[in-house]
This record gives sequence, C-alpha cells and structure tokens, in this order.
Amino acid sequence: MSNAVLSAKNGVDILLGLQWGDEGKGKIVDVLTRKYDVVARFQGGPNAGHTLEFNGIKHVLHTIPSGIFHANALNIIGNGVVVDPVIFCKEIDKLIALEPHCLSRLEISRKAHLILPTHRLLDAASEAAKGKNKIGSTLKGIGPTYMDKTGRNGLRIGDIELPDFMERYQALKDKHMHLLGSYEPPFDLADAEMEWMRSIDRLRKMVLADTDISIQEAYKSGKRILAEGAQGTLLDVDFGTYPFVTSSTTTAAGACTGLGVAPNRIGEVYGIFKAYCTRVGSGPFPTELDNDLGQEIRDKGHEYGSTTGRPRRTGWLDLPALRYAVEVNGVTQLMMMKADVLSGLKNLEVCTAYMYRGEKITHLPYSLEADLLDPCYTTMPGWDEDLTGIHDVTKIPAALEAYTKFIEQETGVPVVLISVGPDREQTLWRA
Ligand code: IMP
Repeated sequence: MSNAVLSAKNGVDILLGLQWGDEGKGKIVDVLTRKYDVVARFQGGPNAGHTLEFNGIKHVLHTIPSGIFHANALNIIGNGVVVDPVIFCKEIDKLIALEPHCLSRLEISRKAHLILPTHRLLDAASEAAKGKNKIGSTLKGIGPTYMDKTGRNGLRIGDIELPDFMERYQALKDKHMHLLGSYEPPFDLADAEMEWMRSIDRLRKMVLADTDISIQEAYKSGKRILAEGAQGTLLDVDFGTYPFVTSSTTTAAGACTGLGVAPNRIGEVYGIFKAYCTRVGSGPFPTELDNDLGQEIRDKGHEYGSTTGRPRRTGWLDLPALRYAVEVNGVTQLMMMKADVLSGLKNLEVCTAYMYRGEKITHLPYSLEADLLDPCYTTMPGWDEDLTGIHDVTKIPAALEAYTKFIEQETGVPVVLISVGPDREQTLWRA
C-alpha cells in the first residue's frame, strides 16, 4: 500500500464521496481497512449501498461498515446513522454465512435512531405528495426518521433496552398514523410491524454500546480509526443540491457529529470521486449526458443503483463541483474511481467553469438549475487501452496520466489512487 497513505497524520481519518454518491467508497474502505483498527459509519442508513468485490464475489452493505470483512477491525455503527432493524438483520444473516464471527466485531450506537415501518409510509406519502417535484428518495424512511430526530420525537437503539419501549413505540406510531390520515399504505403494516419487532428482539442480543465513548477511548489509546461516509457531498442536506438531497450531513463535519469526534482530532480526509459523474434520483446535474454516450457509460460502468436497481444518470466530470467538495470537506488525498469505464472514448470533456446568468464562473453557484447555468468544457484526449489488467501505475496510458494531472492541478490536491476495476486487486497507487 502507498507510503503517502501509510504516513497519514495522527487522528481519525475520514473517507467520503465527493459527488452524488455511488463513487465506490465501499471498495476503498475495504482496501484501506487493513491499516485501521476501527471502521465507523457516521451517517445515512439503508439508503446506502456499499459494494465490495473480492475472490470473485460481490457484497453489498447498507448499514454495516465496509471493514466487516477484515478479522482485526472493530466496526461501529455511529450515532449519526439511522437503522432499519429488518434490513439490518437481513444484512447480518447474509454476512454470518460468510463471516460467522462478524457480530463479535460490530458495535451499534445506542444513540443511533430507529427507522419504524411508519417512517417508510411517511416517506412514500411525502414523495407522492410532491408530484413532479419528487426527490427520487430511496423510500427507506430516511427523511422522516431524521425529521423525528431533530423534532425530538425519535426512537433510539438504546430505547429498546428500556422497560417502556413498547409504549414509546406506540406513541410514535400513533403520531405517524395521525399524520398519514387516510393515506393508503403501499404494504401491509401489520406484517411489517411483526417482522420489525422480531428484528428488535434480535438487536437486543447484539452489542449495543456508547460508541462515542468507544471511539474516544480508541483514539486516546492510539488506535487508528477510519470514519466511513455514505452518499456524497452533493447530497449533503446543507451543501448539496437542496432540496434534491438526502437528510444527513454527508460531509466531513458529519463525522464529528455522527461519531462524537472533535474537529481537531480529524487526520486525513480521503475524497472519493468517479472519473465521470453519476446521479440517481431527481435534481440538477449540469454535465449530464442524456444521450447514447450517457447510456454507453451507464452500461459499461454498470451504473444501476445497488439499493434500488434504478438506472443512474451519467455525465462528464464536473470540476467546479469537485473543487467545491474538496473545500467543504478539507480533502487531503483524492482517489479516482472507474477510470477503466472511460477507455475507448476518443475525447473526454471536462467541465471547468459554468456560464451562469451570462457570466463565466468557476465556483458552484447557489442554484444549478439548467435554465440558469451552462457548463463550459475543456476537451482532453481519451485512451483506448483496457485498464482492468494493469497492475503497475507506470503502465497507465499517457492520456490517463494527463487527465489525472489536470484534476490535481485544478483541485490542488494529489490523486493518490486510480481504481481500474471493482476488485480489491484492481487498485493503482500513485503515491
Ligand atoms: P433518501 O436519502 O432515500 O431520501 O434519498 C434522497 C436522494 O438521495 C435521492 O435522490 C436518492 O436517490 C439519493 N440517495 C440516497 N442515498 C443514496 C446513495 O447511497 N447513493 C446515491 N444516491 C443516494
């Protein structure tokens, strides 16, 4: 593994996505885990789908940190995460078949919030009411659960250990039913509740912990900690393309609030981005290729959602957006994913600026709506070579090296890694 990464600063390192999610974070956490003692998820929930591939098998994780396949790492689901017990238990069952001892290296924060079946109903009702302004939510109940968290109504994992848990559950369910009014549920609520309660019983037997304290102690005893983000910077509730965003803080600040880590304890910030852009769900996407080339990239890059199976929208790399993500997160090392997908394109367009209300700008403006903004592109030569079998970074095509250097120059941050395929082994370190 790279010396640059090994000589990382002391502290809690953060790994996060710089675009609209699906950048390939799961693969990189898995690649990096061997140098970390603790891997902790800090936000999001089962709307995420982190894909890892090794020994010819593909694994998709939704709530569980991507360090779970490494025997020596403690995996933490932090307080900033929202947990659907049913999805979580299904994920555990799949994992146990492969990693029988995985539960012994997993801690779940008592302060993480629970997604109730009625949260999913509220999500569906809210999307239905939005008509053509739909966000394209994954409908996993994420938004309503975070709303109950900030509204101070939520149920937390720690509540399942309390004697009055059922009363608390009923009170929140009643509140939701009142809000739902005559909304017709798209699934059988009674069945969903039964399954949910069975999963709660299973959760009670797992390691529920004050993970903020576990992380603080791990830090003080010199353990190496990696905070794993979900979704991406442009889906952040504050800094993303609001309102077409998720409901959590997907940026570096989210690692502090979602784990209980002080800002001055943050070390490296690894920013993961694709060599092009994708977005799933609605919302502005300035460099979108809504044409045959976009479809070619979608098919070649298997750009279909790992959680919902929805086709992802595809487009060219957007540097003003990437620079913004680098700044908002304080990225110290960039990692470029899926370079192999661009092989065979004669030229690559890279967005370097926008025409915004008649003026050329190089930053991300308040609104990215298509009628206000036109991307300005720089054309770069593409490469023909298949990259998937390359194991030595010095053997990459000159055009890919030039593309990478251009990104470094435009962002001011080194690209330390280029990924050329989904497998752990298809990873080229540049530093
Ligand atoms: P929600 O978080 O399920 O409410 O979805 C809100 C928006 O974020 C929708 O556009 C989703 O498609 C998008 N989104 C949520 N999670 C992910 C993810 O893991 N990858 C990519 N997009 C996501």
